[in-house]
Amino acid sequence: PITDQRPLPTLSEGEKKAIKESWPQIYQNFEQTSLDVLIEFLQKFPEAQDSFPKFSAKKCHLEQDNEVKWQASRIINAVNAVVGHLDNEVAMKQYLKELSVKHSSEFQVDPKMFKELSAIFVSTIRGKAAYEKLFSIICTLLRSSY
Ligand code: HEM
Repeated sequence: PITDQRPLPTLSEGEKKAIKESWPQIYQNFEQTSLDVLIEFLQKFPEAQDSFPKFSAKKCHLEQDNEVKWQASRIINAVNAVVGHLDNEVAMKQYLKELSVKHSSEFQVDPKMFKELSAIFVSTIRGKAAYEKLFSIICTLLRSSY
């Protein structure tokens, strides 16, 4: 399961390796993967749409909305940046803390939702164990400025 509470999990060298080897295949199809994840999230939690004024007006045909597509690509690119920082814990923490500040003060997102979106993301990935840890790190650090 994904956790968003400290202590922060640590990835073993084997888990880092598993992520580095499998991530390129996931990222290769990044537009579709992240769009599927975001659409499923918005359908499961319609109230989350209120956080996104840019697309909250259109409750149907979300998958054709360019703002939704853009948002989906931003999320997976952020995950890609985290994967790029797997061997640099300081940089990873710094990156996610800055993102946390934006989500708390600028976007005012309910912090419980990080876990929900992440669970959908991980459900699309095979060989989940290392990714559950990775997303637990992401969720815990995204909550850090709340
Ligand atoms: C914006 C990543 C989860 C709501 C962003 C941005 C990134 C991002 C990279 C752009 C930041 C910028 O402008 O510099 C992520 C990641 C998540 C996540 C990696 C979890 C794995 C969520 C959740 C919600 C949310 C669960 C809401 C329920 C927003 C909103 C914005 C935003 C409202 C601003 C959109 C706009 O530009 O109008 N997110 N996010 N995020 N995120 Fe997230």
